[in-house]
Amino acid sequence: MNSNKSEYPTETFSAVKWNAGMLTLLDQRKLPGEIIYLNYDSASAVAAAIKEMIVRGAPAIGIAAAYAVVLAARSAWQENADCWREAIEADLMNLAAARPTAVNLHWAIAEMRQVFAIIEGEPEPFLLERAKQIHADDIAANHEMGRLGAELIVPDSQVITHCNAGALATGGYGTALGVIRTAFNQGRIKRVFASETRPWFQGARLTSWELQQDHIPVNLVIDSAIASLMENRKIAWLIVGSDRIAANGDVANKIGTYSHAVSAYYHGIKVMVVAPSSTIDMQIESGANIPIENRSAEEITEFNTIRIAPNDIEAINPAFDITPAKLVDVIVTEKGIVRSPNVEKMLAMFG
Ligand code: MRU
Repeated sequence: MNSNKSEYPTETFSAVKWNAGMLTLLDQRKLPGEIIYLNYDSASAVAAAIKEMIVRGAPAIGIAAAYAVVLAARSAWQENADCWREAIEADLMNLAAARPTAVNLHWAIAEMRQVFAIIEGEPEPFLLERAKQIHADDIAANHEMGRLGAELIVPDSQVITHCNAGALATGGYGTALGVIRTAFNQGRIKRVFASETRPWFQGARLTSWELQQDHIPVNLVIDSAIASLMENRKIAWLIVGSDRIAANGDVANKIGTYSHAVSAYYHGIKVMVVAPSSTIDMQIESGANIPIENRSAEEITEFNTIRIAPNDIEAINPAFDITPAKLVDVIVTEKGIVRSPNVEKMLAMFG
């Protein structure tokens, strides 16, 4: 996938934009009630925005980090043109530490490092070109995955998705929602069930909103309704994104994906994971080695800053879980589809 500019129609909204020499992020904490764009001109501020979930979703985090490297290099060059490479290291480490599970963040920083290893003179134009390319490639990958994934879905299907793997979580169009968008346009999907995704409600706030805007019929359900939905409605696929896929095909994704996949297995419903190759981590042998982000207890002991749990309760709040490869029917990437993933098949495609 190698496109300098997007060949696809402009998205109705963009989670990540480069605008007038600054990074602009759509504040996803405020959606769907308010549409607020925030501007960033420093890498440390972008790292904070990633931590605070202003931008979220593995590919979108990676793209934001790539633009943040441009900002870091600009300020280091302006301060001392002789040692800008050394000067930006602290910024790069800060960015890489912002969220541990999404490998796209580390992938994007590594891609940007490859550029600054070979350039001479002012770094910004070269780095910006690469960051824009990473962004455009992600959109193109989403459209390709949309095409490949949709082919697997028979007409008039009903599907379930979890969290938000849409335009908001990517450079545009979406991974899981990219497949859903394409399949809906082709008459293959007639209804989507979106699970709310506690505790950040990406399903309720973001996925429902994205699908509504595209006039794709969607029902919002609570996370714990999924098994009963699978029992009582005709569901063809569970379609989700991923934050990192290990070399054996184990999938890290938003907490709750694993239990949805177990329910799908029990009910004979197929599981499709849609992710660009930048989400594949062939250095990690299995899901057991994927770092899982633990977030603050307040995210579950409080609701909209109102305490709902007893004061001294110890809460555990992992943001992601691992769905073992044996529960996954297909991994759809822009490079192709891996069916019933295992280490041999993953190696054959991603070597
Ligand atoms: O905590 P989030 O909102 O960043 O989690 C996002 C997810 O788990 C998505 O499913 C994943 O990043 C894939 S997005 C294309």
